[in-house]
Amino acid sequence: MTNKSATLNTGNGTIDLPILSGTVGPDVIDVRKLYGGTGMFTYDPGFTSTASCESKITYIDGDKGILLHRGYPIEQLAEKSNFMEVAYLLLHGELPTKEQYEQFRYTITRHTMVHEQLANFYRGFRRDAHPMAIMCGVVGALSAFYHDSTDINDPEQRKIASHRMIAKIPTIAAMAYKYSVGQPFQYPDNSLSYTGNFLKMTFAVPAEPYEVDPVVERALDRIFILHADHEQNASTSTVRLAGSSGANPFACIAAGIACLWGPAHGGANEAALNMLREIGTPSRIKEYIARAKDKNDPFRLMGFGHRVYKNYDPRAKVMQQTAKEVLERLNVKDPIFDVARELEHIALNDDYFIEKKLYPNVDFYSGIILNAIGFPTTMFTVLFALARTVGWVAQWNEMIEDPSQKIGRPRQLYVGATQRDYVDINQR
Ligand code: ACO
Repeated sequence: MTNKSATLNTGNGTIDLPILSGTVGPDVIDVRKLYGGTGMFTYDPGFTSTASCESKITYIDGDKGILLHRGYPIEQLAEKSNFMEVAYLLLHGELPTKEQYEQFRYTITRHTMVHEQLANFYRGFRRDAHPMAIMCGVVGALSAFYHDSTDINDPEQRKIASHRMIAKIPTIAAMAYKYSVGQPFQYPDNSLSYTGNFLKMTFAVPAEPYEVDPVVERALDRIFILHADHEQNASTSTVRLAGSSGANPFACIAAGIACLWGPAHGGANEAALNMLREIGTPSRIKEYIARAKDKNDPFRLMGFGHRVYKNYDPRAKVMQQTAKEVLERLNVKDPIFDVARELEHIALNDDYFIEKKLYPNVDFYSGIILNAIGFPTTMFTVLFALARTVGWVAQWNEMIEDPSQKIGRPRQLYVGATQRDYVDINQR
C-alpha cells in the first residue's frame, strides 16, 4: 500500500482517490468511495480496467508473456512439477514438503469415488448430450449429496469441499465421457496418479487390461498444469461472484463450468481444432487469414488472441512442444499439426496480427494433443474444467477468507425509458 492518490475532477468538484500498489504489476485506483463522494459510478463493460479483488494466487504480465503461480513461472512448473503439486501450491501458497505432498495426494486419492446414486443423474441425460451440459448438471448436483461440506463459514467444511471437488471432478468428467460412448463407468484406481487414474477411468473397458502410457500421462498432466489457474478470467470471476452471495462451493464451481463452456473462453480449444480441420491443408490458410481480417466477416482465428496476453501466451509455447512430443510418441502423423504451425507462422508475420498483438493462446495446440490421445473434441472443454477446478477452488477460498469481501453487485449506466404511466391494453 502507498500514500499515493489520484485526483479526479468531475466538473462538480474534485475527489482524491487512493492509489494502491501490489507486490508487482500496475497500481490500482481505489474507487470504492467514488459514488459516495461524487454520485458517479465508473463505466467498464467487460471489466477491462477493473481489478475486482486482491489476490495472492496468480500473476500475469500480458505484455511480457509472463505467468506466475504463487511467484513460480509456469514454464518451470510445467517442466519440473506435477499437477498435484501445483494444486497444493495454488491452494496453500507454498510448494509442499515431501510429507505435505504425500498427505495431500493421499487425501485427494481417497476422495475420488462419487456417491453411487450420482450415476443416476447421467442416465437422465440424452446419449448425445454435450459432456459440458452433463458437467454443469452433475457438478451442481453435488451440493445435494455432500451436505456435510456446504457450510461456507466453517473452515473445516470448506477444506473438505475443496478436496472433494478436486478429487471427484476427474471421476465425473470420465463418467460424462463413458456415458456418451455407451460404455460402463470405471471406478477410480487408487494405485495410479491423479492423471493416470483419469486416463484409466476414461479409456479402460472391463473386457481388457489398461496400461497408462507414461508419455501420455505426463503430457496430460502438463496440460492440466497449464490450465490450472489464470487469475480473474471470466469463469473464475463467475465462481467468485456466485460465491460472494454465500452460495455453496459445488454450486459456485457449476457456475464456473457454465461460463467456461463459451467459445470465447474454454470452448476455444474445441473451436480451434474444428477450425484447423476445416482449413485442412496449408494451401487454404491464406483464405482463412483473409476472412479473419475482414471486418464484415464474423470469423476469428480460434486459439488466437487473448484479453490479457498481448505477447506469446507462455502456455502456448509449452503446449506446442508437448504436441510435438505426443505426436512422435504415439506415432501420429497429423496433418492438422502442420496446418497449425504454418498458420501460426503466417499469422505472426501478418501486419494485422502484429498490429493487434494477436498471438496463439493456450488453446491453439492443446486440441491437437488431446485429439492424438483419443479425446473427442466435445471433451476438450471438460478437460479444461477439470484442471481449472483447482484454480476455482483456490480463488473461492481466498475470496471467502478475504475480510473486504462483499456480495458482487456491479452498477449500470441506465439508458432505458424514464418514468412513464401505465397505459391500459385497450389504449395502446
Ligand atoms: N482473429 C481475428 N481477429 C481477432 C481475433 C482473432 N482470434 N481476436 C481479436 N481480434 C481482433 C478483433 O476483431 C478486434 O479488432 P478491432 O480492434 O478492429 O475491432 C481486436 O482484435 C481486439 O479484439 P477484442 O475482441 O476486442 O479483444 P478481447 O480482449 O475482447 O478478446 C478474445 C479476446 C475473446 C480471446 C479474442 O481474441 C477472441 O475471440 N479469440 C478467439 C477465441 C479464443 O481463442 N479464445 C480463447 C481465449 S484463451 C482462454 O480462454 C483460455
